Amino acid sequence: MVQEWSNTPYRPHPPAHMGLFERLKHLRTNFIYAWTANYYAQPFVVDRGLTTTFIVVTKPEYVKHVLVNNHENYVKSSMQQATLVPLVGHGLLTSDGEFWRRQRRIMQPAFHYKRLQTFASTMTGAADEMLVRWQASKGNGEVLDVSTEMAQVTLDIICRTMFGSGIDRAQVDAVRDASAIIAQDLGTPPYADLLGLPRWFPRRLTRRVRRAIGNVQRLIEKIIVERRDNGEGGHDDLLEMLLSVRDEETGEGMTDEQLRDEVITVFLAGHDTTANSLGWAWYLLSQHPEVEARLGDEVENVLGGRLPVYEDLAKLPYTKMIFEEALRLYPPAPAFMREAIAEDQVGDLRIPAGAQVTIAPWLSHRHRELWDRPDDFVPERFAPENSKDRHRYAYIPFGGGPRICIGNAFAMMEGPLILATIAQRYRLRLVEGHIVEPQSKITLWPKNGLRMTLEPAQSLPEAAD
Ligand code: HEM
Repeated sequence: MVQEWSNTPYRPHPPAHMGLFERLKHLRTNFIYAWTANYYAQPFVVDRGLTTTFIVVTKPEYVKHVLVNNHENYVKSSMQQATLVPLVGHGLLTSDGEFWRRQRRIMQPAFHYKRLQTFASTMTGAADEMLVRWQASKGNGEVLDVSTEMAQVTLDIICRTMFGSGIDRAQVDAVRDASAIIAQDLGTPPYADLLGLPRWFPRRLTRRVRRAIGNVQRLIEKIIVERRDNGEGGHDDLLEMLLSVRDEETGEGMTDEQLRDEVITVFLAGHDTTANSLGWAWYLLSQHPEVEARLGDEVENVLGGRLPVYEDLAKLPYTKMIFEEALRLYPPAPAFMREAIAEDQVGDLRIPAGAQVTIAPWLSHRHRELWDRPDDFVPERFAPENSKDRHRYAYIPFGGGPRICIGNAFAMMEGPLILATIAQRYRLRLVEGHIVEPQSKITLWPKNGLRMTLEPAQSLPEAAD
């Protein structure tokens, strides 16, 4: 079966049926292709492996049941843990139970939107530096890979917000290279997992992933040691917040090991996701001139050529809607999993103990029963009057319930601020003939990158020298 992904208009064509071997191949290499048409139309789909039941849930009430109402019965899936624990250790993303609850409680204040406001100028500053680079070297019809550019700017932002000036260019580049290897290799599930073989069956990481993970861990450990040696205090960054947080109930902070795992978790979870969503937003804008023009009008009217500040976000509702719609069509975390501790029943769905339950933003967001014109790019669907009747759990780019993404507010600030900063200066044009195809592993990114050229926006303000 040939999958067709044309660059305009962009639509998936899920087949009605698929053989087991083809399905296993897609699950390993690009899992969104493994979902047949019924996944986009049914409230849930149940598959039985050799020893494990796999369930994909899309009905919003059932998604809510797993993530919120009966969340105590659903721990992080052992299958997904096998992939993520070697990378981020026992950080927030991978821990469960009382340990997770304590870590979340002590980290939550560092991500409060009021604290995050202080990062707005770091975000627009990094975007502006990118524009200066673009203007100097790439403004003359040169082709750039917008995926790489967005990865670079979001990495710069997470480095500065996390470590202040405690990380240099070479270290940032080393992390970028390691992250690319990790994204490529780590999300390839072993056949043992896909067939539902027992957990004692051997599973291995590739050598280059182990090396990439080791490099990131050593770098982060070095930065933490340097910060502790130079004396904490006086820094206005996330590392400082994490070093200083104390559990309100016990008054305790984090051990060095916990701190390392949390820093790596936030560091890796916090840039690739936003980079991908921004890349997809530029791709969608390039295919929809009417949306692009409306974005141009909004940023010009509100900002008139200056860099946006935090307070502008409330005045840029259309920019936010574009970002939300890009997150709907191309959710950077296209699927995440839970494992049922005990047997459970929700409506007509029986979930056996040990079942691997997949929550898939990719499917929920394109579900035929939940959305009007599900595959079309329509930012207006996120206007308040058009959103009020939508079930909260039909739109889940950041998950939901107690384990909702802790960086949700960070990303919802960063995305629109970067979009507005760039849209004031440039329109991004997809190079003719460049095929854009989604690649899903742990995150979702454009497989061949995004080869684009720059066109000055109508009223082009001068970039700072
Ligand atoms: C568009 C950007 C982002 C998307 C789509 C996204 C998506 C998600 C999703 C779906 C989850 C829940 C996974 C689950 O329930 O199993 C999650 C958790 C998490 N995210 Fe994000 N994320 C984004 C940005 C960020 C940023 C900017 C940070 C940090 C600065 C971050 C840090 C985390 C952490 C630490 C968790 C684990 C939370 C917990 O389990 O308590 N994410 N993210």
